[in-house]
Amino acid sequence: MKFSWNKLSKPILALAPMEGYTDSAYRQLVKTYTPNVICWTEFTSADALKYKSRTSQKKIKCDKTEQPLIVQLFGKKPENFIQAIPYVENMNAAGIDINMGCPAKKVVASEHGSALIKTPELAAEIVYQVSKNTSLPVSVKTRIGFKEFDKAKFEKFCLNLEKAGAKLITVHGRTTKQGYSGKADWKPAYSLKKLLKIPIIGNGDIDSPESALSHIETLDGIMVGRATFGNPLLMYHIYKTLHPRSKKLKRLPDWFELAKKHIKLSVKTKGEKKGMLEMRKHLAAYIKGFPYAAKYRLRLVQVVSENEALALIDEIHKNSLK
Ligand SMILES: Cc1cc2nc3c(=O)[nH]c(=O)nc-3n(C[C@H](O)[C@H](O)[C@H](O)COP(=O)(O)O)c2cc1C
Repeated sequence: MKFSWNKLSKPILALAPMEGYTDSAYRQLVKTYTPNVICWTEFTSADALKYKSRTSQKKIKCDKTEQPLIVQLFGKKPENFIQAIPYVENMNAAGIDINMGCPAKKVVASEHGSALIKTPELAAEIVYQVSKNTSLPVSVKTRIGFKEFDKAKFEKFCLNLEKAGAKLITVHGRTTKQGYSGKADWKPAYSLKKLLKIPIIGNGDIDSPESALSHIETLDGIMVGRATFGNPLLMYHIYKTLHPRSKKLKRLPDWFELAKKHIKLSVKTKGEKKGMLEMRKHLAAYIKGFPYAAKYRLRLVQVVSENEALALIDEIHKNSLK
């Protein structure tokens, strides 16, 4: 059945796309315990896909358990997005998301990501051209402004994206200038919801089931990112709170089990060398706040092999029982 944002049970719970973190292993881990979470890929260059970059093709590779998966693309040339579409369609993605929110200097300097907020006609043209050339629903993830939040400008920008064919908009409640500082402002998303017909997802600073519940208001969904680092089960707890009648897990895995599963998935999807390199930051996040964190952090961020990492987790587990 064709994926449609309108057919999903609301509120939607989305795992934020996070470059360097939400790879296939992470998404599979989250979906193991919370299958109804909608996942986005890390942002991938439309230009690179057009030029058949193997790295970019690998980046959007996924397992069927991640479906419905939204592939996020960034770029600025409508024709390159169009040429990237077959790759996304061939991997059976559920939808295409256009990144209009990345604040990274390198990305903005090349007029990609959130720089598109400054060129609203081009932003709408990209959505229009992509929508015209695929049957997949096209969505946009954006911020509330570039330098500052201007209600009229922001709403016109989003209204034009809707007119151009966007089927959903995710709003991160910060400007580009803010980066990740300050507090996310969710009010622009609430007003946008009143204005647009398409579903709106809110994003920024959700770190508990309580904060998800208090921020949802009239929105169609919530997207959660950084707070899941080292705590992928947060998605389960948020989903259960937003959907109290959803299936309860009979047994929740502990930190040790989660970390070991994550290691195995990372190695399976990326091979031992790359998989373990990628795991280091996750392992440091898992251990954050533990009383014996300092003792093990240095060893965790230096692990090289799968066996070494699994043995270290077992050692930490054993010591935690003493
Ligand atoms: C390390 C990192 C990488 C990110 N990569 C992406 C990305 O590839 N695409 C995107 O749209 N947003 C990206 N973001 C932004 C997040 O999707 C999200 O909007 C932001 O972290 C705010 O949500 P949170 O407070 O729940 O983390 C990234 C954020 C972080 C911290």
